[in-house]
Amino acid sequence: MGKSFFNKKFVLFLLAFTLYIPFAPTARAWDNGVSLTPPMGWNSWNKFGCNVSEDMIKSMADAMVTSGMKDAGYQYVVIDDCWQVRRDENGFIVADPQRFPSGIKALADYVHSKGLKFGLYSDAGKLTCAKRPGSQGHEFQDAMLYARWGVDYLKYDWCSTDTRNAQEAYSTMHDALAATGRPIVFSMCEWGTAKPWLWAGSIGNLWRTTGDIDDHWEGKKKWADGGCCSLGMLDIVDMQVGLEGAAGPGHWNDPDMLEVGNGGMTTMEYRSHFSLWAMLAAPLIAGNDLRSMTPEIKAILTNKEIIAVNQDALGLQGRRVGKDGNKEIWVKQLKDGSRAVILFNRGTAETEVSVSWTDLGYPEHLSASVRDLWAGKDLGKVTGKFSANVGPHETLVVKVTP
Ligand code: GLA
Repeated sequence: MGKSFFNKKFVLFLLAFTLYIPFAPTARAWDNGVSLTPPMGWNSWNKFGCNVSEDMIKSMADAMVTSGMKDAGYQYVVIDDCWQVRRDENGFIVADPQRFPSGIKALADYVHSKGLKFGLYSDAGKLTCAKRPGSQGHEFQDAMLYARWGVDYLKYDWCSTDTRNAQEAYSTMHDALAATGRPIVFSMCEWGTAKPWLWAGSIGNLWRTTGDIDDHWEGKKKWADGGCCSLGMLDIVDMQVGLEGAAGPGHWNDPDMLEVGNGGMTTMEYRSHFSLWAMLAAPLIAGNDLRSMTPEIKAILTNKEIIAVNQDALGLQGRRVGKDGNKEIWVKQLKDGSRAVILFNRGTAETEVSVSWTDLGYPEHLSASVRDLWAGKDLGKVTGKFSANVGPHETLVVKVTP
């Protein structure tokens, strides 16, 4: 009798616990209605550094349309550092009058007239990384001006912040952007220093997880001043492992902007770079000169089937499920129940790479169709596992559909 009473109590406890679960607090995204899939666009920094001007930005917006990038889904045209030179007597930020003679509002209007969106850069410290005025102490004034100009995207850097607390600094700019009432994508560029994946989901739409990318395959390189280090593309990829759970619609891990087309890697390596960024649900922010792309580079950046993996509405970041020396398997679950799968060869000799259905969370006996997304070719139905020869530094991306 005592035993059955305990059981009843236990059942009631279980019921109460089950009912409670849906109301348990969960990490929330900032619900500003933007970036429900990873943002896609172009940013000036990787190719042009401080060499920005209104003529260049206008021609880049033109090229985004004529090259087919806009049709492929790229939307934001973002000016990085060096557009700003000083503050006026009332504290308002002033654009470089030589390089932006028509002013930022006119430039934003031009970008909008092309059916695109416009972005700017600032910094949470007193100075930007290129020693231009930052936003510290001017957050609400800057956000209001950006909104008036028609800014749709703000990249917010972390130089000259001294002892400032990152969560406080980014929350202040979050509040300032929210107060404008304009939906502005908030891109937090804090380099992963204070582990933003643990707290940034309710503050911004994307956050950098590492230091700056450099246009090379792998290996940390010392900066010119002897400091450490610029990161190769694969160094950054390795640093994404374990961060998957923080990403989702409206809030993304950002492994930095693309180097595809900037000349430091081979076409095959750029294909791998783009495949891995798609798998990571990373923002796809091109960093090359869109006015002079080779057909091979354009074909990488505009591949609709690879972009669809990145933009899948479920918004899950892919994860590495297998690593054996230079062979890696990465998997991203898609909304329709299928899986995007990467078979990656980091090495310099061709090798066979296999993925088993159990790696994908499927039962072994399942028969599933396999499609090679780079080749745009159906490879037929397969049961249990899929194997392929993968060339040096190649990434095969397949879609496995039960
Ligand atoms: C930092 C950022 C870069 C770029 C530069 C601009 O290094 O991480 O992405 O914005 O500043 O100065």
